[in-house]
Amino acid sequence: MNPRKLVIGNWKMNGSVPRLRSFAALAAAAPGGCPAALCVPYPLLPAAQTLLAATPLLWGAQDCSAEDEGAHTGEVSARMLAELGVRYVIVGQSERRAAHGETDGQVALKARRALAAGLTPVVCIGESAEERDAEQTALALRRQLLQLARTLGRELGAVVLAYEPVWAIGSGQALAPGLIDDTHAVIAELLAFHAGLPAGTVPILYGGSVNARNAQAILGRQQVAGVLVGGASLEAADFMAIWQAAAHQGREVSGIGA
Ligand code: 13P
Repeated sequence: MNPRKLVIGNWKMNGSVPRLRSFAALAAAAPGGCPAALCVPYPLLPAAQTLLAATPLLWGAQDCSAEDEGAHTGEVSARMLAELGVRYVIVGQSERRAAHGETDGQVALKARRALAAGLTPVVCIGESAEERDAEQTALALRRQLLQLARTLGRELGAVVLAYEPVWAIGSGQALAPGLIDDTHAVIAELLAFHAGLPAGTVPILYGGSVNARNAQAILGRQQVAGVLVGGASLEAADFMAIWQAAAHQGREVSGIGA
């Protein structure tokens, strides 16, 4: 498995150009060798491109259309995002699934468009509180992964997955690191069984109440390839602390020293 851990911030419907500027100032002195990206609202992408281009911090988007072009009012295509230097695009985040009725099928089509445009889709999967309570977590993950495997085929090997238990998002209560590790192992088994992808092919991030205090324990887990951070990605100091924790882990795993 690639020992370099990945940190992605999801600003959701927050942020501003001045906020981006403060991130750019701190990112100029960022830890090397460990990728990190901020997924900002669409209108901030040109500013992200201008302000972050000279820093190690990458930028991304929070959604893309399942269509390539045409009469789709309000939609933004993956190709348009690529033209703004976007590297990562989140698809299927649970807020979009809940508020916009996005299905597993649509999410998979969005991931396919992103890949075709040369972007890396960060595909969110995860169980709801009801599914967790009914002990149907593995079943929910299997359903979501099967649809991705059907739509993407071997290309599934080129996505980044983000496991976000829906109930943990914005709750202040991250899943315990040991349980994150166990669930990521289940996802890796499902990928091997249903898509023929050996463990480690698809990086699996964890998302849901990651912050500067718990990041190190979560990132220290073997099955955790990185984190997808919501609220704590809005404060530059917190985001940098999480990025530092990831860089530290990457160095420990690869043994190349500080
Ligand atoms: P929080 O880190 O605020 O829980 O949000 C996680 C998330 O939804 C990232 O996509």
